[in-house]
Amino acid sequence: MADEQAEAAEDQGGVATGKGSLTVTDNRTGETYEVEINDGTVRAMDFRGMKVTDDDFGLMTYDPAFTNTASCRSSITYIDGEAGVLEHRGYSIEQLCEQSTFLEVAYLLVHGELPGKAGLDCWTHVITHHTYVHENIKKSMEGFRYDAHPMAMLLSTVGALSSFYPGAKKLEDETERYMAVVRLIAKMPTLAAFAYRHNLGLPSVYPDNDLSYPGNFLSMLYRMTEVSYEPDPRLERALEVLWILHADHEQNCSTAAVRAVGSSQVDPYSAVAAGIAALYGPLHGGANEAVLQMLERIGTVENIPAFLQGVKDRKERLMGFGHRVYKNYDPRARIIKKHVDEVLEATEAGNPKLEIAQELEKHALDDEYFTDRKLYPNVDFYSGLIYEALSIPSDMFTVMFAIPRTAGWLAQWLEMVCDPETKIARPRQIYTGARQLDYVPMDQR
Ligand code: CMC
Repeated sequence: MADEQAEAAEDQGGVATGKGSLTVTDNRTGETYEVEINDGTVRAMDFRGMKVTDDDFGLMTYDPAFTNTASCRSSITYIDGEAGVLEHRGYSIEQLCEQSTFLEVAYLLVHGELPGKAGLDCWTHVITHHTYVHENIKKSMEGFRYDAHPMAMLLSTVGALSSFYPGAKKLEDETERYMAVVRLIAKMPTLAAFAYRHNLGLPSVYPDNDLSYPGNFLSMLYRMTEVSYEPDPRLERALEVLWILHADHEQNCSTAAVRAVGSSQVDPYSAVAAGIAALYGPLHGGANEAVLQMLERIGTVENIPAFLQGVKDRKERLMGFGHRVYKNYDPRARIIKKHVDEVLEATEAGNPKLEIAQELEKHALDDEYFTDRKLYPNVDFYSGLIYEALSIPSDMFTVMFAIPRTAGWLAQWLEMVCDPETKIARPRQIYTGARQLDYVPMDQR
């Protein structure tokens, strides 16, 4: 069955599955080696046997930033960057955004298949009933400064959750693994909303089990004195779609961090905290915040040509453009773009930055500098505008990304923990420093 699927994927121009071999001649020694090719890859360890002398360490591969190195086998997310295709467990992102909900996609990522009605009801019930956090977690969040970055609060609080669930260390226990997955997906919106309210000096709002996953999040953000909060269905749907779009994206920086840290067999709360730390960076999750700052700086449509000249002169970076994997339009950007108008209408927000963004996109797509480099809008180009319309401050944008990505991180963590090929991640280095120096006492330096 697996072979048939692989062949079918190959027929569709999908995963490279070719078997074969590579003949390598080491010109240092004249020796020739056969290296096996499987699934379009060679094993780096097969090069280790290529030595000049017997005590030689052997040939290593050098790949800073892992731009051409597969670190795992995964059946979760498929991306064809050239064609602009994104699929989760084989289902296209377009169909999922159109027909599914975030919690169903989270189920799909974690379990590997779409749920039946009873399965989805049970999953929704169990997630909904784990949204509360221990009161001490809430108290510890109250200890942050009023202006603490919400991502810093989220990062440390998720790390702290590890101390509340010591059983999560038992990675061999299937029930513990499952409960950690449920708790993290359930509590992430609660922690995110607590961080948001803390920054505003407002009391935290406890979860409302009668609302949907995104509806409950909106309630925890915005509810004031109402007896019950009724989320606007248009905003609920926009969040649903944004969260489906951000649920997983194969081996990106934060997912690689979760897998690498998780490979030490630490508990999943700590591994996910590592993912949050990676996502905090402006080249990863922080890019949509940088997009808004960029649009703010551009100020008016008339300033766009001068700004783009600055990018071409390498004084600036066009934030929200370019992607390590997509060398075509990011399919997520296309879907988000459709929802911008709807959210602006629902929130009656009107946003002059939208016009600048649309013009900027047109200018860049008309300019060989960008098209030659295959620089197209990515998912972050428009998501910040939606968050801004929802009155979510830019500091919170990365937190908004972390909520859905938790499902992807956990699906990838589970896959890693259950993979018999998993070993602790431990890259090699090319040492470039000094050797065998004599220690110089302080008074002689
Ligand atoms: N603005 C201007 N030039 C760019 C940009 C950009 N945003 N991105 C790439 N380039 C240029 C780069 O200077 C290089 O030009 P040259 O060959 O003349 O030196 C060429 O395009 C190739 O770039 P690269 O640095 O090799 O590309 P990369 O794959 O290492 O970088 C990236 C990917 C996302 C870090 C980069 O495109 C970037 O910094 N984009 C802006 C930040 C951003 O929007 N990040 C969000 C990514 S999507 C969210 C996610 O999935 O996590």
